[in-house]
Amino acid sequence: MGIEKHPFVSSLSLLFIFAYSACAIDSSFSPTVNYLIDCGSINKTKLKDGRTFKSDRETTSLLDTTEDIQASVNYINITNKVSSSSLPLYHTARLFTEESTYIFYISKTGRLWIRLYFLPLPHPSYNLTSAVFSVHTDHFVLLHEFSVTKNDTLVFKEYLVNVSDSRFSLKFKPMKNSLAFINAIEVVSAPDTLISDSATAVARLGEFKGLFQSALQVSYRVNIGGPAITPDSDTLSRTWVSGASYNTFPQGSENVVVSNKSIKYPQTGATPLIAPNFVYATAAEMKDPKIMQSNFNLSWMMKVEKSYSYLIRLHFCDIVSKALNELYFNVYINGMVGVSSLDLSSQTKALSTAYYQDFVLSESAIANGSILVQVGPANLQQGTANAILNGIEVMKMSNCAGSFDGLVSVDGKYKGPTNKAIKIAAVCGLGLAVMGMLLLAVTIIRWHKRPQGWEKRKTISSWIIPINSTCKTSLFSMKSSCRSSSTFSSHKSRNGHSPRGPARFFPFGELQQATHNFDERGVIGVGGFGKVYLGTLEDGKKVAIKRGNGSTEQGINEFRTELNMLSQLRHRHLVSLIGFCDENSEMIIVYEYMANGPFRSHIYGSNLPPLSWKQRLEICIGAARGLHYLHTGAAQSITHRDVKTTNILLDENYVAKVSDFGLSKVVPEKAQVSTAVKGSFGYLDPEYFRSQQLTQKSDVYSFGVVLIEVLCARPVIFPTLPREQVNLADWAIQQHRRGMLHKLIDPRIVDTISAESLKKYVEAADKCLADHGVDRPNMGDVLWHLEYALQLHEAASQINEPEDQSVNLIAFQHTKENDSIEADHSGAQASDVSDTTDVDSAFSQVVNMHGR
Ligand SMILES: *[C@@H]1O[C@H](CO)[C@@H](O)[C@H](O)[C@H]1NC(C)=O
Ligand SMILES: *[C@@H]1O[C@H](CO)[C@@H](O)[C@H](O)[C@H]1NC(C)=O
Ligand SMILES: *[C@@H]1O[C@H](CO)[C@@H](O)[C@H](O)[C@H]1NC(C)=O
Ligand SMILES: *[C@@H]1O[C@H](CO)[C@@H](O)[C@H](O)[C@H]1NC(C)=O
Ligand SMILES: *[C@@H]1O[C@H](CO)[C@@H](O)[C@H](O)[C@H]1NC(C)=O
Ligand SMILES: *[C@@H]1O[C@H](CO)[C@@H](O)[C@H](O)[C@H]1NC(C)=O
Ligand SMILES: *[C@@H]1O[C@H](CO)[C@@H](O)[C@H](O)[C@H]1NC(C)=O
Ligand SMILES: *[C@@H]1O[C@H](CO)[C@@H](O)[C@H](O)[C@H]1NC(C)=O
Repeated sequence: MGIEKHPFVSSLSLLFIFAYSACAIDSSFSPTVNYLIDCGSINKTKLKDGRTFKSDRETTSLLDTTEDIQASVNYINITNKVSSSSLPLYHTARLFTEESTYIFYISKTGRLWIRLYFLPLPHPSYNLTSAVFSVHTDHFVLLHEFSVTKNDTLVFKEYLVNVSDSRFSLKFKPMKNSLAFINAIEVVSAPDTLISDSATAVARLGEFKGLFQSALQVSYRVNIGGPAITPDSDTLSRTWVSGASYNTFPQGSENVVVSNKSIKYPQTGATPLIAPNFVYATAAEMKDPKIMQSNFNLSWMMKVEKSYSYLIRLHFCDIVSKALNELYFNVYINGMVGVSSLDLSSQTKALSTAYYQDFVLSESAIANGSILVQVGPANLQQGTANAILNGIEVMKMSNCAGSFDGLVSVDGKYKGPTNKAIKIAAVCGLGLAVMGMLLLAVTIIRWHKRPQGWEKRKTISSWIIPINSTCKTSLFSMKSSCRSSSTFSSHKSRNGHSPRGPARFFPFGELQQATHNFDERGVIGVGGFGKVYLGTLEDGKKVAIKRGNGSTEQGINEFRTELNMLSQLRHRHLVSLIGFCDENSEMIIVYEYMANGPFRSHIYGSNLPPLSWKQRLEICIGAARGLHYLHTGAAQSITHRDVKTTNILLDENYVAKVSDFGLSKVVPEKAQVSTAVKGSFGYLDPEYFRSQQLTQKSDVYSFGVVLIEVLCARPVIFPTLPREQVNLADWAIQQHRRGMLHKLIDPRIVDTISAESLKKYVEAADKCLADHGVDRPNMGDVLWHLEYALQLHEAASQINEPEDQSVNLIAFQHTKENDSIEADHSGAQASDVSDTTDVDSAFSQVVNMHGR
């Protein structure tokens, strides 16, 4: 007898499978924002709980720093100090000797978990146990002058911060002459339902509203009556510790455990995201309540910091009663009534059903630095005398300064109560102000009675305080004859702390030796300024040595400018200056050696293997960061004026560094400076050319050309092509408008670029190439777009790579504020072909004039 499946049966089972999986999705949570970083690590780190933390290398585009030091150790035995699942994260760390910021792109705003892992590892040249540093987000101080003073102490900090911007930054700020470190970082979405706006106020009974305004720091998360729960058993990767050590009256309490499966979640209220069922399946109850017949409280005490308010979440689940409406108990927090005669049956309408309640304990109620949670039988005739508790969470609320650590806010202002002396000063100030007002009144009266002809006696100009111009000119004041290295030691990076030391003066002989007397075989580059040699210093360090031919005025000026610029710039994405030599009227600059040479050689025109899309994006991001720093980060705002792919160099790890500052100029942000037009053919901003007004947006234009060049892998000017194709940037934008850009894309990588990533990237390039500077984004926005393009590419390639599918899938919404920058270019450039060619031919004259 053959058994034949009826079609109805199979479709029913399909339906069943569907319903089942829908149900399974409900109890899990996949965070939209999911940044997991194992700082200092070379490889990805996969934890036992299934999460994979990215290595330092993979996350370098998130980090905005001016330096690059990394500490890591192989292994130290720290097994018994922490739940083993996160242990591998502590094996490496990243060090910062200067303020450094991780910038995360937030595709879904709302509450984020911020989890920080610290362990001071031994390092040959830095003492991490003496590190003192602060950690800030955009609006909150997480740690202030923090240090981990014991070698072997693991420190884990966990925060919940509501983020409403599309960017979120995490800033590590070492104290002066100290350093900062971090072993691992998590920035992960939390469900919106996790924390509501209101809670029960304990000190003054009633409702507390306004939790949305507050950031939270997890102080304790305790599974009462059961063992610890590790991140792999919690859908939100939380750690719950066992409650035994906080129980102040263990003799009176007994643990109850039921099967995980018997726990039910109500229609409204607690969900598996609020707490996993294992929290509700274990509880503490009163020992032998019937026999002892005594009336006492179960108590748990936790030490907390004074002068903060706390959010306390208590979890209950009636797993002890045999029938409904048998259990009534009181809940006390720090001796005050939280809930009087709590009846779980009437709250949940069923036994074994999860329930939780939030309480806010104001700072005034934490007099001696501890939180005491008690439950005891309600004094009622009905029911059994018993009380239960399943879980406790204690979360510190940010204070009036937006801080979890002191009264200094993110902007460095003290927000605490003013003391007596300050009050007196304030009163004095008020008095002075009143006197000032009186004086002003007198002056006004006298003004009205002023004698005729007063203007002749005293001109207004003598009232104006002269603007100090020395700070603007000092940059160029260095004479080319200066030779003592002390000139440079006074130039320090922004915060007066220069990790790589000042530029050094090299005697000519030493450089002769380093380059085998400037052997032509050591030439690694030739520029308008002269030749660049690979040299090896006495200590074996490889350097790039640029020797000017010194014959022209322009050469001398560029040498001076470059030396001046470089001596005060320190950034991970700018080529660093090592030293210089001006002996015997030589003009030699010594730079760090960039092993992989100019970016252009890796795109076309050489036999080097093609870079992947991801590598290209990372290099562009690095270069954009360098330019962004020039424009906004340095003490004076600088325009590079010669941005091109041959001026973006790559070190041995393909980290991009912007070089060649010979044409750079100090141009205050947003200002225009009238100058002779200089730059490179094909990259030059047409607006700058027309008006001779230099702004930072000229660099943005050139960078747009670089972006197109990197995508299409052909020279920016190709004179033998048909006329409309000669200028790559114009041609590419035209083709883009016609929807045919894909035909120009580097055929070696075109199939590997995801459509979303390409769209974002081209959008950035298109905006950079806007005809008018005001329509172009600034470098910060360009950076943002490129990073976004990288994230989109990574998200897309992770979908294709099944191995990585479970982790770090970063999905972005397409409703970013920056999308609105899109300016309407209305084809202005496309229609002006003849116009631009005229400009082009004129450009070549300029270019020839300067021999570049
Ligand atoms: C980790 O990195 C090292 C190089 O430092 C490499 O040899 C090793 O294969 C990597 N391991 C994994 C699992 O990728
Ligand atoms: C680490 O310490 C534990 C106990 O303290 C010990 O059992 C284990 O063998 C140690 N491991 C190593 C690699 O030293
Ligand atoms: C901390 O580590 C340093 C170097 O690793 C060592 O010299 C020092 O004794 C350690 N201190 C403690 C308290 O273990
Ligand atoms: C590191 O600094 C800590 C605290 O300042 C000090 O106790 C320790 O001895 C130092 N260790 C080394 C190796 O200098
Ligand atoms: C975050 O803050 C915004 C405004 O401050 C508020 O509208 C939003 O509900 C908050 N979200 C969460 C999850 O707290
Ligand atoms: C309940 O779940 C936890 C974590 O998943 C597990 O460790 C525990 O053994 C389970 N308990 C029972 C009784 O099934
Ligand atoms: C339980 O604790 C509360 C608050 O500390 C106290 O008022 C009450 O008397 C205690 N009950 C018993 C039976 O000790
Ligand atoms: C706080 O006060 C309670 C009694 O009011 C006492 O039992 C407890 O030990 C005190 N805690 C601390 C940390 O002093």
